[in-house]
Amino acid sequence: MKFNNILVQKNDSLAQITINRPKKLNALNKETISELSDAFRDLEEDFNIKVIILTGSGEKAFVAGADISEFADFSVDEGGSLAKKGQEILFDFIESLTTPVIAAVNGFALGGGLELAMACHFRIASDNAKMGLPEVSLGVIPGYGGTQRLPQLVGKGKAMELIMTASMISAEEAKSYGLINHVTTPEELLPLAEKLASKIMRNSPVAISLAIKAVNANFKDGVNGFETEIQGFGACFGTEDFKEGTTAFLEKRKPNFPGK
Ligand code: COA
Repeated sequence: MKFNNILVQKNDSLAQITINRPKKLNALNKETISELSDAFRDLEEDFNIKVIILTGSGEKAFVAGADISEFADFSVDEGGSLAKKGQEILFDFIESLTTPVIAAVNGFALGGGLELAMACHFRIASDNAKMGLPEVSLGVIPGYGGTQRLPQLVGKGKAMELIMTASMISAEEAKSYGLINHVTTPEELLPLAEKLASKIMRNSPVAISLAIKAVNANFKDGVNGFETEIQGFGACFGTEDFKEGTTAFLEKRKPNFPGK
């Protein structure tokens, strides 16, 4: 696939998507959202890919938000459609991928940028990162899931404060909030993401995908997460990965999961 705004690299079972509009601080215009959606779909369908890292190009930004120049003159209907389509094709889509996605936040993650990082399965950041949902300072609210995922990650009170004040927080603050898992230097950010990815890749891809589904079920209206867990747990017993995992343990060797 050929893209204008993102770079996709594959290295064995690890894929990296880099949002590549550094002059616009990697702001998410319509084309970038569509390209990201296509790239994630393509990687999800690639059986060899076990983990995806998402990051931004340049030293300043992961993503500085949705591209304000594109929606400044939108109508009520156009605004609603922008949020609906974006959530469907990208933000909700990433969250429900069965391939783990790690956000490596390398600078500003604002508005749609933080929402994108929050749609990933977990986040790490470099110590120069700054995060926030500044939408109300523009007269709008977060539209790519920010009002839902931020309280899930940091709790309602902190989310309310961050959204209402439109404040930016540092990587260390974001870590103390539970918004990101690790803080490191800019140089060590991708190596750390790769180290975490390699730990994930030692484990059963089928079990990981069922675990993602079960964890996500906790946050879905009308879905009983405990029931999703029971079904996923049961399904594991019919997989080649389970046979390999248990056999390897009993034979005192490392498992080599077929991913089936
Ligand atoms: N949408 C469109 N363009 C954006 C953008 C966005 N969300 N964020 C940054 N850019 C563009 C700027 O317009 C500028 O373009 P130009 O060089 O053609 O004028 C370029 O990226 C560099 O940004 P600049 O503002 O000059 O960098 P800075 O270091 O002075 O400030 C920020 C960095 C992140 C504080 C500032 O860019 C900003 O506030 N961006 C908007 C953040 C936001 O509100 N996001 C939520 C959107 S819903």
